[in-house]
Amino acid sequence: MDNEIKLGVIGDPIDHSMSPYIHAQFAKAAGLKINYKPFHVVESDLNEFIESFFAEGGYGLNVTLPHKLNCVRSADILSGEVELLGAANTLSKNNNNKIIASSTDGLGFIKDCSDKNIEISNKRVLILGAGGASQSIIPSIARMNPAKLMVDNRSPDKIEQLLEKFSSFRLEPFQQSDEPIDLLINATSAALSGSFDWNIHSQLNKQTIFYDLSYGKASEKFFSWASQFSRNGFDGTGMLIAQAAFSFQSWFDTFPDISNINLNNVND
Ligand code: ATR
Repeated sequence: MDNEIKLGVIGDPIDHSMSPYIHAQFAKAAGLKINYKPFHVVESDLNEFIESFFAEGGYGLNVTLPHKLNCVRSADILSGEVELLGAANTLSKNNNNKIIASSTDGLGFIKDCSDKNIEISNKRVLILGAGGASQSIIPSIARMNPAKLMVDNRSPDKIEQLLEKFSSFRLEPFQQSDEPIDLLINATSAALSGSFDWNIHSQLNKQTIFYDLSYGKASEKFFSWASQFSRNGFDGTGMLIAQAAFSFQSWFDTFPDISNINLNNVND
C-alpha cells in the first residue's frame, strides 16, 4: 500500500532475521503503518541496492551481517559512533535526501544492561572476541566507566589492532590475575563451531554475570559452560530488541515501548 512507510533489513543470509517482527510490533503500538521487509542482498549488489531503496521512497534500513562495514560507503553522513567503529546497523534519509549511517548496537547493549540491573560502572568487565560484535559495544561500555574493561581473543594479533583502534578508551588486554570478573561478555562465534571453553575459570564465580551477544540456540553452549560457575546469565535477545528500538527512534523520533515484545512465534 502506498501510504505505508517503507523500511527493511538487508543481510546475507537474512531468513533468520527477527527485525521485521520486532519493528512490526513497535509500529503497531505507535500507530504507524509500516511495510518492513527482509531483503537478501549480496555484497556485489549492496551499494546499488541501498541507493535505489532510498531513491524509490525507502524511509529506513537496518543492516546486518555481513554488510555492517561496507554499507558505510553508501552513506553521505556518518554519526560519531560510525566514524569510530567504521560500521553501521541503521540507515536513514534526511530532508535533503542525504543517507545517514548510525550504529545502535552499543546503545542497545547498555539499555538492556540497565533494564536488567546489570551494573557496569566500577565493575571489571571482560569481553571475549575481537570481531564486529565485540567492537560495536566497546565504546559504549567504556563510557560507563567500568573499573576495568578488558578484551581477550583467540588470535592475539586482533587484540593489538583493537587496542590501537580504541586507543582513546581505557581498553586493556586480558591478563590472568586473581581479580574476579564481574561481567563476562561473549562476543565470539565460538559456540557455533563446537563446544565453548575459555581459560579464565579461576576468575569466575557465583557473582559473575554472563552475557552472550548471541541468542537462542546460538547461545546454548556458552550458557552450558557458564552454568558451572553461576546462574546469572542473559542472552542477546534484550539487546536485539533494544538496538532495534534505537533504530526505530532514529527514524521516528520516538522510543517505542519494548516491554511487551513477543518473539515466541519466531524461529531462532
Ligand atoms: P562478528 O561480526 O560476529 O563479531 P567476526 O568478526 O567474524 O564476527 O568475529 C568472530 C569472533 O569470534 C572473533 O573474535 C573470533 O576469533 P578470531 O579473531 O581468533 O578468529 C571468535 N571466534 C570464532 N570462532 C572461535 C572459536 N572456535 N574459539 C574462539 N574464538 C572464536
